[in-house]
Amino acid sequence: MAEIKLSEIRDLTRIERIGAHSHIRGLGLDSSLEARSVSEGMVGQTQARKSAGIILQMIKEGKIAGRAVLLAGQPGTGKTAIAMGMAKSLGDSTPFASISASEIFSLEMSKTEALMQAFRKAIGVRIKEETEIIEGEVIEVSIDRPAVAGAASKSGKLTLKTTEMETVYDLGVKMIEALGKEKVQSGDVIAIDKASGKITKLGRSFARSRDYDAMGPQTKFVQCPDGELQKRKEVVHIVTLHEIDVINSRTQGFLALFTGDTGEIRAEVREQIDTKVAEWREEGKAEIIPGVLFIDEVHMLDIECFSFLNRALENEMAPILVIATNRGITTIRGTNYKSPHGIPIDLLDRLLIITTQPFSEDEIRKILDIRCQEEGVDMSEEAKVLLTKIGVETTLRYAINLISGSALACHKRKGKIVEMEDISRVYQLFLDVKRSTQYLMEYQSQYMFSEVPMGEGDEDEANAMVS
Ligand SMILES: Nc1ncnc2c1ncn2[C@@H]1O[C@H](COP(=O)(O)OP(=O)(O)O)[C@@H](O)[C@H]1O
Ligand SMILES: [Mg+2]
Repeated sequence: MAEIKLSEIRDLTRIERIGAHSHIRGLGLDSSLEARSVSEGMVGQTQARKSAGIILQMIKEGKIAGRAVLLAGQPGTGKTAIAMGMAKSLGDSTPFASISASEIFSLEMSKTEALMQAFRKAIGVRIKEETEIIEGEVIEVSIDRPAVAGAASKSGKLTLKTTEMETVYDLGVKMIEALGKEKVQSGDVIAIDKASGKITKLGRSFARSRDYDAMGPQTKFVQCPDGELQKRKEVVHIVTLHEIDVINSRTQGFLALFTGDTGEIRAEVREQIDTKVAEWREEGKAEIIPGVLFIDEVHMLDIECFSFLNRALENEMAPILVIATNRGITTIRGTNYKSPHGIPIDLLDRLLIITTQPFSEDEIRKILDIRCQEEGVDMSEEAKVLLTKIGVETTLRYAINLISGSALACHKRKGKIVEMEDISRVYQLFLDVKRSTQYLMEYQSQYMFSEVPMGEGDEDEANAMVS
């Protein structure tokens, strides 16, 4: 590995998932970290949100590292939602990596490698770099006419000035394209990154504030730069250790970041990178930002994974670990031992535990309201009352799932607003767990792998399964 490559990661944008939690925009706390009853898409669950907020505050202040938090509570009480809320409030400059524990068993790599990659996705490196830029006000862009009509032009000139000097630059094909893409015209103040050729429009020069035809409503006016046209500038970017790993472990590393097809990363590569990062830190060029690693459904991990987690948390660069489970006292995978949440005692001992409580009817109603808005569904008052009842009787998640289905039913009968009939239609089409279990009890002999004994006590069995 010759040089650690960074330039390629710079423009990598993060892709956001939309789905079950798309309405969550934060934890909904006020400045003194108290939970507002409805805010940022969050409803109720105030104790848990407040606790999560305090953890976040400690993370932001860099006070804790290598600490672990457990979100424990029944299914559908918003554990994952709280983790997503934490991610949103952390902002872009602190890495947040999220996996579901079962994922690591299905990847084409060992489970500890998968965990290691997840850890390194949650550790950020803030890197300071000096770059050379050309910054000035555009006096003129002149593109030569192409030799063949209709062809793209190959040469041209760009005249830039500062308050003190003026220079004419020759343009090549790439620059002409870039200028065209940014719609650069005279009067714009632009910056050109010399290494990458990237052009950034900084705004319109104040001197041109009277050219009404060349501005839109959001035109930003800036001063014409002073001093030299060429400047050295310090830029800061944040990458994760995982991104550095991937890019340096293969020739097509950069693409692997998009496809997720990273494969196993050799230990030597990681060692070299860690050494390099340590050097950068000593030289004051880089800083470690411990982020957050969220592992959902953590009871799916086995004993080897848990001991890996324990060890990884001892590392000096460890992120904050947030885990979630809905299990009570249960067997630790890979052993015959039982323990609270199916988590070994030595890891439990490190945990700060946040519990979530079942939602009240009123809170379910509010969450359903927010989800209707999020999915762009108009619903009548009666239909909402019915859906809330269903949410109370079955689960919040089931009720949320009926929203889009009932909107389709409504659309099909050419209605505009979802009514009770649409809700009851999809309610009949899709079973919830309770009804599905009942159905299984009645028809179990026709299914494969049925283990529930028939005969006396069927009722109790059925109840035990759904409760
Ligand atoms: N406090 C809350 N405010 C708003 N929506 C919530 C809240 N808690 C959960 N939800 C939503 O309810 C659904 C189920 O919650 P989820 O976080 O998946 O539960 P859990 O992870 O505890 O099983 C999700 O769509 C989630 O976004
Ligand atoms: Mg969950």
